[in-house]
Amino acid sequence: MLNQIWITKNIIFLFSLVVILWQVILGSPMRMKKEREIEGTNWTELADEWIRARERIFERISVTLLPYTDKIHKLPPTSTSIIIDELKSKQLMRMNYSRILWDMETSQQTGHLSLFVDKAMKLLDLRQVMMEVETSVMSKVSCTACKVGTGLLKHFIKARKSEEEIMNSIYRFCVSLKIQSARVCQGITLLMGGEVIYVLKQIEMSPAQVCSFVIGDACEDVYNPLHDWEVAFPPVNKPAVKPPVTPLENVPSFKVLHISDTHYDPYYQEGSNAECNEPLCCRYTNGPPLTPTAAAGRWGDYRKCDTPKRTVDHMLKHIAKTHPDIDYILWTGDLPPHDVWNQTREENLKILRETVEQMVTTFPGIPIFPSLGNHESAPVNSYPPSFAPKENNISWLYDELDKQWRRWLPTGTSHTIRRGAFYSVLVRPGFRILSVNTNYCNNKNWWLLINSTDPVSELQWLIYELQGAEINSEKVHIIGHIPPGHSDCLKVWSRNYYHIINRYESTITAQFFGHTHYDEFEIFYDTLSIAYVGPSVSPYYDLNPGYRIYYVDGDHPDTTRMVVDHESWVMNLKEANLYDYPVWYKLYSARQIFQMPSLLPKDWDSLIDKMTNEPNVFDIYYKHYYKNSPVRPLCNDECRKRLLCDLRSGRSHDRKALCHSLEAKIDADTKTGWRAWIYNGLALSMSVVMAIPRFAYNLPKYVLGLG
Ligand SMILES: *[C@@H]1O[C@H](CO)[C@@H](O)[C@H](O)[C@H]1NC(C)=O
Ligand SMILES: *[C@@H]1O[C@H](CO)[C@@H](O)[C@H](O)[C@H]1NC(C)=O
Ligand SMILES: *[C@@H]1O[C@H](CO)[C@@H](O)[C@H](O)[C@H]1NC(C)=O
Ligand SMILES: *[C@@H]1O[C@H](CO)[C@@H](O)[C@H](O)[C@H]1NC(C)=O
Ligand SMILES: *[C@@H]1O[C@H](CO)[C@@H](O)[C@H](O)[C@H]1NC(C)=O
Ligand SMILES: [Zn+2]
Ligand SMILES: [Zn+2]
Repeated sequence: MLNQIWITKNIIFLFSLVVILWQVILGSPMRMKKEREIEGTNWTELADEWIRARERIFERISVTLLPYTDKIHKLPPTSTSIIIDELKSKQLMRMNYSRILWDMETSQQTGHLSLFVDKAMKLLDLRQVMMEVETSVMSKVSCTACKVGTGLLKHFIKARKSEEEIMNSIYRFCVSLKIQSARVCQGITLLMGGEVIYVLKQIEMSPAQVCSFVIGDACEDVYNPLHDWEVAFPPVNKPAVKPPVTPLENVPSFKVLHISDTHYDPYYQEGSNAECNEPLCCRYTNGPPLTPTAAAGRWGDYRKCDTPKRTVDHMLKHIAKTHPDIDYILWTGDLPPHDVWNQTREENLKILRETVEQMVTTFPGIPIFPSLGNHESAPVNSYPPSFAPKENNISWLYDELDKQWRRWLPTGTSHTIRRGAFYSVLVRPGFRILSVNTNYCNNKNWWLLINSTDPVSELQWLIYELQGAEINSEKVHIIGHIPPGHSDCLKVWSRNYYHIINRYESTITAQFFGHTHYDEFEIFYDTLSIAYVGPSVSPYYDLNPGYRIYYVDGDHPDTTRMVVDHESWVMNLKEANLYDYPVWYKLYSARQIFQMPSLLPKDWDSLIDKMTNEPNVFDIYYKHYYKNSPVRPLCNDECRKRLLCDLRSGRSHDRKALCHSLEAKIDADTKTGWRAWIYNGLALSMSVVMAIPRFAYNLPKYVLGLG
């Protein structure tokens, strides 16, 4: 009986889904045509499809990945008073906004080559200034740089230059403007030039449109109907929302390890040059240091260096020993190092295989749920959807992921992993984990310029899975790499994802991401939903290495499947190098340090308010954000606004709407009014951070899609 109702419900759902799909395909003005087409639909075929899909759901329901556990983990204590650690203000933030403003206001997009070169020279003048503004993000300038580069490339393409000639020009441009060292210029040009030229040939977009797409709101919001799309929801009414209840105390819980952004560098060498003016230093190819202080540390380095093998090994050993009671692991991507100019498919696959092997041997029998980072592909950020030419077919990576991930995942996931590196697993009746591939929201993924419409139907799949979960009364955790509210995430994708979170708020009880390398979180509004952003293992850069432990409401009748508490663990890199003895320690636990009654989304929201009103509380957050790194820069009011705004940004490139009240409050408190462009300009992005010490690096980054 129940089954029948269920099937009837679903047939209605399917019917309406089809109606909606037609609406999407045809657009609303063509109502007549749409109705005709619906009449012509082959219902037999669709019903068959639905029944097959339904069987797949039942298949999955029988899978239970985690063995039953009634473990009651000892959670971190929650009371005690806060110890305020004053920041040591050795490094002052030096910002020259007037210069940036000036550049912003004088740069206009035009079509002439001479003007572009002119602009490029102006940018060159700015280099000195840019070096001074290390801690801020000068995206308006990057925007100009992007437009210059794109304009140049489009000019070459129009002039029918051969690919070889164009690549030669890029290379000469890169070297003569001293944007990077000659070998990095060469590597980047060879690795990415072909793809970028191909994409630019395919599209009819002005440089302003291209750069608005790639950089986001900081580069004007140029509307492009091609990149405005919406995924279809089934016409099932959103169930009435019950306010989430606080999880019970002293009940069984899961202990969950979250590892992200390992960026393991097999070529890391202790004592090599750590100040190399390339995107990645501390490798044997960087040669000896010029001064003793420029030598790479034994356990890693705060400069632009990734994680040595001995540090990864040491961390995993420490975790296995300190936390023998881990129930499962979330592993949110970015395994290879930042040597983006010299990456090959073979090398990246080797790193994937090695790290998977290491995880298997370190955590035997523990399920691991991975998601895909933006660095796993070669070249970085290049995740071509199905319309790309054959030689760019991403199957080389997805097929291997399927092979490697299969150790932990049921075989039913193979199909979606090979299609788009995302999957759904029922870890236990009533509790599901969905892993999304956020590379289809990455605005540095140049392929999306050709067509960004829900690549490989990933978001449609997500809706389908969530609808199924809602019907079956399951709770869902979503994991992924790039936080959907981050400025690296495409605005239109992010907006769609935000709708999805809103629609299924009662089903989704937590989200987990990485990518920023910082220890932070992100709130979705209207409805409240919380995304945890875990810290990186890599110290890249100015950071201590770290990882997170979550306690998730476990197996008992009143379970909420919410995160009950979390801890961040770090290693003090400076002391490790000084005494050649790394010590991993618990930096803080969330409920205790912020004196939160529970970790419901509304508690996180209150915490943001508290940090807005009380700079002391923010300072505590900021210290943990940098994983207690001794080289973290000072955070002034602008920086505070930016970081707090990040926390409110579940939707990308919409800071004006999401952060206005917060910034107004801080402005009123500090009596410093700022101009509107700051909303856009200061969207901190790891990929931008990577570029800062050599400002002009922005040029090839945006021109060539590096990030
Ligand atoms: C509808 O689909 C079924 C199954 O694929 C097929 O046998 C049938 O001929 C189709 N009918 C029409 C009218 O296309
Ligand atoms: C900022 O840059 C402008 C223009 O280059 C310059 O005149 C001014 O002195 C600079 N201000 C500071 C504080 O360096
Ligand atoms: C690129 O990587 C290879 C190893 O894969 C290495 O031998 C070579 O020196 C690297 N080149 C540069 C410029 O770093
Ligand atoms: C890529 O390769 C896979 C299998 O090798 C194939 O199924 C898929 O259709 C290919 N995609 C394109 C766009 O050629
Ligand atoms: C973009 O992709 C979508 C989905 O794959 C497709 O429906 C649409 O026609 C494509 N748009 C263009 C302009 O090719
Ligand atoms: Zn990373
Ligand atoms: Zn990343």
